Amino acid sequence: MKSNSLRKKFINFFVSKNHKYLPSASLVPEDDPTILFTPAGMSPLVRYLMGEPHPLGERLCSVQKCLRTDDIQEVGDLTHFTFFEMLGNWSLGDYFKKEAINWSFEFIIGKKWLAFNPKKVYVTVFAGDKDASKDNESIKIWQEVFAKVGIKAEVGDKDKPDFTRERIFCYGKKENWWGPVGKTGPCGPDTEMFYDTGKPHDQKYGPHCHPNCECGRFFEFWNDVFMQYYKDNNSNITPLKQKNVDTGMGLERVVALTEYIENNVKNPDPFLTDLFIDIIKLLEEESGQNYQENKANFRTISDHLRAVVFIISDGVRPSNKDRGYILRRLIRRTVDSLSFIGIYKQEFYSLAIKKVIDIYSSAYTELDKFQEIKNIVLDEVEKYLKILRQIKKLAPEKKLTGEQVFTLFTTHGVSPEQLRDQGYKFDNLALEKKMKEHQKVSKKGMGQKFSGGLQDHSSEVVKLHTATHLLHQSLRSILKGNIQQVGSNINRERLRFDFTFSRSLTKNELKKVEELVNKKIEENLEIKFSIMSLKQAREQNALAFFGQKYPEKVKVYSIGNFSKEVCGGPHVDFTGELGKFIIKKEESCGAGKRRIYAILA
Ligand code: SER
Repeated sequence: MKSNSLRKKFINFFVSKNHKYLPSASLVPEDDPTILFTPAGMSPLVRYLMGEPHPLGERLCSVQKCLRTDDIQEVGDLTHFTFFEMLGNWSLGDYFKKEAINWSFEFIIGKKWLAFNPKKVYVTVFAGDKDASKDNESIKIWQEVFAKVGIKAEVGDKDKPDFTRERIFCYGKKENWWGPVGKTGPCGPDTEMFYDTGKPHDQKYGPHCHPNCECGRFFEFWNDVFMQYYKDNNSNITPLKQKNVDTGMGLERVVALTEYIENNVKNPDPFLTDLFIDIIKLLEEESGQNYQENKANFRTISDHLRAVVFIISDGVRPSNKDRGYILRRLIRRTVDSLSFIGIYKQEFYSLAIKKVIDIYSSAYTELDKFQEIKNIVLDEVEKYLKILRQIKKLAPEKKLTGEQVFTLFTTHGVSPEQLRDQGYKFDNLALEKKMKEHQKVSKKGMGQKFSGGLQDHSSEVVKLHTATHLLHQSLRSILKGNIQQVGSNINRERLRFDFTFSRSLTKNELKKVEELVNKKIEENLEIKFSIMSLKQAREQNALAFFGQKYPEKVKVYSIGNFSKEVCGGPHVDFTGELGKFIIKKEESCGAGKRRIYAILA
């Protein structure tokens, strides 16, 4: 099955079950300082899983762009991607296990849908522990759905399985519990679905095969999470206000699985599906080498290039920090892997970026920026090549200390593999020691980044969010030009607002903007929201985030009669709660774009 067909089938199926289609949110989370990129379909929905009403209702389905970089070093095997698409359906306090499992099964075996042979489907459920009991309810529902197609599904023992009778296996938190994404947030037990490829078990992975065995016989393809708990800062798990369903099916994996079933190929390999094949072919042509013999490099390059195109199209630029650093690393790892298969020429990037855009442009119109993406990538590649040339000068005899290699990696993203490949010699043990120390420190750093939970709803952030709306409208009132929001980032200390404007603001203009915001704070205006169609919102001149796709029904927040903006919230109730608004800095953030930092005192 082709990817476009799977996306359509999934959405059509759930729309036929009264779900509303929700367009993918950006890879860059809006107003969420706690995560760098959207890691799962549920991330843009956290506040709704917690109980806030969603403008589109209680049943949603989407194809969400996701990015995970925690195991970037693992990319190159069959299952690790940085960028991927996640198909998902949600119940926000509406249906629960029965409907979720029945619909999953209907979609899996239905002739119009995935049409898998039900005999090949195996499932896992949560075994129970101190936080939640064994999921007997899901076991019972699975037995009922299998019975409908004449299959007696017994519960198996994973240490002594008999796959002729047993189809349901229980595991603990590691396998059958999902979330929260950060330290705190919604989470719950899940039930996962596997396809039995029938591949002989490899004893290397243990005496017996079972669904979560890593030998490759069972291929996991869908996860229904019963998000009914909340994990707090003290690791306490308590029931949420409502019982939700969050399902996630990796598009790449399922396209690969359907190709494997339909075309009898050796393994389900996402890189041989329509999502990647044109890039793989290009790599074969340009390198004169074969994918089958160079899988790790071919996969790393195609995975990273695809991620790079999507990240740039969502507004990120290479830099030394946060998102920009991840983008930089992805580009540099691509350069490294290309050199490992002998591709050095700059034209390759244009050809490959064009291919990625061609593959995805019908599903993601925001990719329509070939020139811009190409220029950013080429510029970054050139910077990296320059550093590599400098290293050559630094060590003409090709000898480096472990310390030097470490510094090159952490400050310039030059990987030790790249240096090794270019014939540099260095002390591996000294390097490893430094690397381990560094990983510890950066893990701590990441922990801190996530420590507020997935969405920071602290009162500081909420106030600054309302202040952002006041600032947006004040800029429009004072500057009168074509002001469009192009970015927003809030943490507990400050807001940062990016907008289109062709020159720097004068002192006087900044003062007037600041005064207007403070005037609106003093007026103690009420903040309200209403839910309406996007069309109505436009007719009412509600401001919207330029470049963002919105669902057909949206929330519109108004602040008195002063500002009206399409936004998910949350906000304070009255502007009087904000305190004094102070602009700290105004600067350029790219051609035709300005950035303002401001605080509330
Ligand atoms: N949140 C779950 C996942 O990301 C299901 O969508 O796998």
